[in-house]
Amino acid sequence: MDCTFAVYRFDPAVDRKGRYQRYVVPAESGDKVLDCLNRIRWEQDPTLAFRASCAHGICGSDAMVINGRVALACQKLVRDFNTANHFVIEPLPVFQVIKDLVVDLRPFFEKHRAVRPHLVTNGAHPEKERRQSAENQQFIEPALRCILCAACTASCPITRVNPNYLGPAALLRAFRYICDARDAITLERLRKLDDEDGIWGCETMWWCTEVCPKGIPVTKCLGQIKRLLKKEDSSD
Ligand code: SF4
Ligand code: FES
Repeated sequence: MDCTFAVYRFDPAVDRKGRYQRYVVPAESGDKVLDCLNRIRWEQDPTLAFRASCAHGICGSDAMVINGRVALACQKLVRDFNTANHFVIEPLPVFQVIKDLVVDLRPFFEKHRAVRPHLVTNGAHPEKERRQSAENQQFIEPALRCILCAACTASCPITRVNPNYLGPAALLRAFRYICDARDAITLERLRKLDDEDGIWGCETMWWCTEVCPKGIPVTKCLGQIKRLLKKEDSSD
């Protein structure tokens, strides 16, 4: 069957504003949206720019807006959409477009770095590994699935109005270390998030959880941070 793709095109070097370019792509119902985009680039238009690498929901590089909803192009099949084989493909919102479907993710990764996304420990290094209990591992396991695709942050209504808000992905990474029993700076981590650009920017709107391609309960994890901060405040 033939599928019609209206793909957002914008090259800031030559275009004053974006436009949609139409492509007709032969596809099977079980083809991925990414397969169709590759077909466009390989067979029709090598100037179309988008990111993708693993094609299996692992690298997190092909998050984009597919028929109005943020998703990974490699995780969505043609048959997942009830739109008469018509697709509208757009770049992630919130971020600046570099070209076509490629956005500038530097602000996203700066916020990720701001939460110190690594274990901080005290004392001597152990001879072997730092042991973690099975319960503790299970508690933070959902957050370990994050592939930093930015789908949640791009979909978050708060990110759209407050550019300083850390956003769900960075806050989820903070949760991962705050709740890791081996980390030595839990309180410091919590205090850093204790404002409107941090955890209190979250208004529990659930959009992050809805779009997450790894099925992570992002909103619930953020709720844990809020609970821990309230507990700290009541014990002061
Ligand atoms: Fe992507 Fe989910 Fe991680 Fe957000 S929490 S960056 S949507 S994998
Ligand atoms: Fe790697 Fe889709 S191409 S997640």
